[in-house]
Amino acid sequence: MGIRYAIIGGTGVYNAGDIADADTKTIHTPYGDTMVTIGRYADREVAFMARHGVQHGTPPHLINYRANLYALKSLGVEQVLATAAVGSLQRSYQPGELVLVDDVIDMTKSRKSTFFDEGRVVHVDMSDPYCSRLRRGLREAAGKLGYDLHDGGVYVCTEGPRFETKAEIAMYAQLGGSVVGMTSMPEATLAKELELCYATVCMVTNWAAGLSPHPLTHEEVTSAMAANVEKLRRLFYQFIENDTGERTCGCTTAVGGQAPLTGEESA
Ligand code: HPA
Repeated sequence: MGIRYAIIGGTGVYNAGDIADADTKTIHTPYGDTMVTIGRYADREVAFMARHGVQHGTPPHLINYRANLYALKSLGVEQVLATAAVGSLQRSYQPGELVLVDDVIDMTKSRKSTFFDEGRVVHVDMSDPYCSRLRRGLREAAGKLGYDLHDGGVYVCTEGPRFETKAEIAMYAQLGGSVVGMTSMPEATLAKELELCYATVCMVTNWAAGLSPHPLTHEEVTSAMAANVEKLRRLFYQFIENDTGERTCGCTTAVGGQAPLTGEESA
């Protein structure tokens, strides 16, 4: 059937967990090399990628998002499930909770955010940045597992690697942001340009600046993630096990069927 599913692990999620026949390889792309682990869960082939590298060596603004997404597409991946550690901008999203975000505000500054730099001018529609079919499947998977999940939320993606100022956080909250992180953009855009289904499940690891009673540290984020990594993996594998593989959403034609690698043999 091929590798239809991929998991992109964010901060704290550095391996695929319990998958069979795991094999890690380097994938070469026109944008650079990247590492992918391929294995099987419930007889479905799954690709896993650690967004920051397995040792968390790459900061958010230097991640090669284009190589990562292109590599997944070249393997034949159609559906991408991502995790993200986030700070909370609103009292209703509490540390330790999961958020299935449905929209994003892009505050990044320096990242390569398109596959369409030359050749064709493409303006991809981002009215629905996270695939609604994938989100429905993830809601159902959470229900089966008895997990509480905020259904919806706006991810504010900052440039990083610094944390935000109090004034920035107050502004993002006023603008309608729910949570803040540093990686969902351009990942969501690039997935859309490749006509992949893409969804992100956020784990709230901390109150954002100004809401937190103490200064923020990366350790606070990683230790909150460590307590929940297995939960996120279980959620994704439950989705993968249940999914029919039928892509009834608009993601398959997000750029008119003209995405890079369309129609090419997978690696
Ligand atoms: N800000 C930005 N990114 C983050 C945060 C935060 O408070 N927590 C986890 N990732």
